Amino acid sequence: MSEKAFVMIKPDGVRRGLVGEIVSRFKKKGLRLLRGEIMEISRETARVHYGHLQDKPFFEELVDYITSGPVFAMIVEGKEAVANARSLIGPTNPAEAPPGTIRGDFGLAVEENVIHGSDSPEHARREIRLFFEK
Ligand code: TYD
Repeated sequence: MSEKAFVMIKPDGVRRGLVGEIVSRFKKKGLRLLRGEIMEISRETARVHYGHLQDKPFFEELVDYITSGPVFAMIVEGKEAVANARSLIGPTNPAEAPPGTIRGDFGLAVEENVIHGSDSPEHARREIRLFFEK
């Protein structure tokens, strides 16, 4: 059954000109790009998106970082899109992400880890509403 995932190239990825290369990895994998938009996100949207982390010591820096420039927000679709997108993206900390994954190839540190991908179909639906249907 086809599924949708929300994926977002974070400001460091956009600034470093990685959008084309990253989008092509999703397409080569076989996922379909349903939407792809460059957008600025408000601090309010960032706080809602990362609401599950609001008690963490790094929360304010995370909000600063994600609002520091435009992001490239995407909806990708395909079989097990959430799990497949997460496997292309790799583990949260780029230092621990294997080469071949997006974070492993393009990132250095957890504070600027290039890309976000939904961690469940339910969160994907919530994130798609938050970023594309407001
Ligand atoms: P999380 O939802 O745990 O990871 P993922 O993005 O892989 O689903 O964390 C969200 C973001 O918070 C993560 O991409 C980078 C940032 N973060 C930090 O800045 N420092 C940290 O110690 C952790 C765990 C995450």
